[in-house]
Amino acid sequence: MPIWDKEGNEYRVECTMTGEKLIEWRVFDPGPPWIGVAACARKASDLRIHDLRLRDDLPGPRTFLQGLFGRPAPRVTYQRRGLGTELLKLVIGYAETSRCETISGDITVEDIAANPRLVQWYQHHGFAFSPAHAVGRLAGNITRPVDQQR
Ligand SMILES: CC(C)(COP(=O)(O)OP(=O)(O)OC[C@H]1O[C@@H](n2cnc3c(N)ncnc32)[C@H](O)[C@@H]1OP(=O)(O)O)[C@@H](O)C(=O)NCCC(=O)NCCS
Repeated sequence: MPIWDKEGNEYRVECTMTGEKLIEWRVFDPGPPWIGVAACARKASDLRIHDLRLRDDLPGPRTFLQGLFGRPAPRVTYQRRGLGTELLKLVIGYAETSRCETISGDITVEDIAANPRLVQWYQHHGFAFSPAHAVGRLAGNITRPVDQQR
């Protein structure tokens, strides 16, 4: 199944289900390696997001001069192209069809350090953020009712 970024470029998505509880979407541009993932597990009526990310560690194409001087290719990022939003739509759509009531996930201190606007990104997509009470790796929890306007 295809998804498109904000500029209209097409990406291939593979969906894998393990039993009735685990579901994962991997995004390709269009062939290996994968460039994005959303992995969820269902627990009762909650669909929990365990991993949702777009890669920023893959080498892009080398220019002629970079190749000539043996320079490493600059890295490309697949973040901020609208693909995280598309993955979230797949998660929400699956939660709707499988009659889940909520979608949730944990956000760690490391996630926020790497992406300071992560909580706002989830809030923009209808999630509420509850900060963790204990001091530790967990920064908080995000949750969203499934039956809500996108
Ligand atoms: C968080 C993440 C999944 C969002 O996916 P994405 O494809 O980058 O986000 P989208 O392109 O769909 O949405 C981006 C929009 O959100 C808002 N935004 C603002 N700051 C942002 C930021 N630091 N990161 C992501 N979105 C941001 C903007 O409106 C932005 O649109 P703009 O680029 O036109 O300004 C992705 O950035 C990512 O993989 N980050 C690293 C891993 C991570 O933190 N995963 C979540 C763990 S719970």
